[in-house]
Amino acid sequence: MPPCSGRTRRSIEPSGPGAIAARRHGIPAMPELRCAGRRWTVPTDSNLLDALTLAGVTVPSSCRAGSCHACLVRCVAGEPRDLQPELLRPEQREAGWRLACQCRVDGDLSLEVFDPRRDGLATRVQSLERLGADVLRLRLLPERPLRYRAGQHLLLWTAAGVARPYSLASLPNEDPWLEFHIDSSRPGAFCDFARELRPGDLLRLGELHGGALHYEPEWCERPLLLLAAGTGLAPLWSLLRESLRQGHRGPIRLLHVCRQGHYLKEPLQALARAHDNLQLEWISHEERDRMLSTLRPTSRRDVALVCGGPSFVDVCARRLYLAGLPRGQIFGDAFIGANQAGVS
Ligand SMILES: Cc1cc2nc3c(=O)[nH]c(=O)nc-3n(C[C@H](O)[C@H](O)[C@H](O)COP(=O)(O)OP(=O)(O)OC[C@H]3O[C@@H](n4cnc5c(N)ncnc54)[C@H](O)[C@@H]3O)c2cc1C
Ligand code: FES
Repeated sequence: MPPCSGRTRRSIEPSGPGAIAARRHGIPAMPELRCAGRRWTVPTDSNLLDALTLAGVTVPSSCRAGSCHACLVRCVAGEPRDLQPELLRPEQREAGWRLACQCRVDGDLSLEVFDPRRDGLATRVQSLERLGADVLRLRLLPERPLRYRAGQHLLLWTAAGVARPYSLASLPNEDPWLEFHIDSSRPGAFCDFARELRPGDLLRLGELHGGALHYEPEWCERPLLLLAAGTGLAPLWSLLRESLRQGHRGPIRLLHVCRQGHYLKEPLQALARAHDNLQLEWISHEERDRMLSTLRPTSRRDVALVCGGPSFVDVCARRLYLAGLPRGQIFGDAFIGANQAGVS
């Protein structure tokens, strides 16, 4: 993906007049930031994302938890203290990319922000449709093919610099488009923009990223439990079709919890008619707590894939674990920064 382009990095010596004077008087210098043609100092230990945005540098952010990768910046010189280095691939770190929300500034830094026009992939809207009251189905055709796995998510960039993570609902190497399910039940910078999109409109794709959700061919005979809340169904729709494409033979149980009308009911029912091992359950928001209180794996061999708002993912994972499912068989991605009304 784009943010791996290798450009050289260098170390920097504090050089501003403040730094020189502070050194002369033995006072610890405030770290100096350089970005977008500007230089300024910040208190030691500042959060890098805050330091940039307070100074008026546009860096998108959504989750502030290291999950969405909207806040990627590239260190050209100097090194921040990265609290979660494992969140980026080694080749991204090597090229200087860091997640600003996860970094503390304790020395001078020279930075570049992710520029979707330079670092992203252009894509056009193929179609935009309503799937039920609160969900928009956005299909995009990128200017070059994008290699991805079921369960991954992408940053979608608007021309105005809003970047938000959305899970891929399409099936890799089969669907000609990239499909996304966008919760539009409440206002939001990206979903307000998405509502107005028309076929042919241009967007940019940023980081492609994988969380915990994936499918492994070795699971083929095992019971698969798919738990989705709201548009958490998007990656599970892709993973369900991936598992069936790979000939999954174990029982598959999909539960979809939704506030406002369950979407994709018809295509799901068509899949269930074609695959005896697929069982579907639609749970209304009112029935959610009852469902969660009775949630059990069918055996210790189950593999559970869970997606939705953070509280839904947490509760499902906890219940399954307490009911005897080993932690290593529970995979969940939480829509942090999500519209809680839609996906919790
Ligand atoms: C890895 C990952 C994958 C994701 N995949 C999907 C997906 O496939 N589908 C999906 O629908 N979502 C997904 N999300 C969640 C989505 O990225 C977030 O919900 C995102 O914030 C939506 O962007 P927005 O600009 O529309 O809303 P934002 O402007 O970011 O606002 C977020 C929420 O806060 C509310 N809000 C904003 N400002 C205020 C305010 N001042 N007062 C009260 N409420 C406010 C908005 O109504 C909105 O509901 C994913 C998140 C992650 C981390
Ligand atoms: S805002 Fe930094 S990773 Fe989401």
